[in-house]
Amino acid sequence: MTSAVFVLNGPNLNLLGKRQPHIYGHETLADVEERCRGQAAHHGLDIRFHQSNMEGQIIDWIHEARDHGSAIVINPGAFTHTSVAILDALNAFDGPVFEVHISNVHKRESFRHHSYVSLRADGVIAGFGTQGYLLAIERVASLIKVAAAEADAVS
Ligand code: DQA
Repeated sequence: MTSAVFVLNGPNLNLLGKRQPHIYGHETLADVEERCRGQAAHHGLDIRFHQSNMEGQIIDWIHEARDHGSAIVINPGAFTHTSVAILDALNAFDGPVFEVHISNVHKRESFRHHSYVSLRADGVIAGFGTQGYLLAIERVASLIKVAAAEADAVS
């Protein structure tokens, strides 16, 4: 496997650890990045970890993943509930897509119950705290292993 797993984070996630810690916990995004890198390295996977408060920047990273990404793990933050443009970008990506939410969005305000991204996501993790990112990477790693084993069996 040569291409990377793109781990993308949307608006306000740069404030992780400071923002509403009773909902999102005390870990910072840098802590999450470190844990994701460790988990990915354990599986021999490369990671591109990004955060932006700009919708267009997130879309550009999704486009980049078309050429350089094997999978996308995305916490789109509030764009989850608003962004048809991010959904369109994800629909132009061929690999697996996993949507992660630190909080259980279904237990919160009703406007958080709808996700445009879920229309594309192959799996959704919500309410597992920051561990959700690691679970998503674990899933990516097992899908890649299965695909490699299938390719071996054919050749
Ligand atoms: C979030 C949930 C969203 O509703 C919210 O806007 C966020 C974070 C989460 O990780 O729980 O910014 O995606």
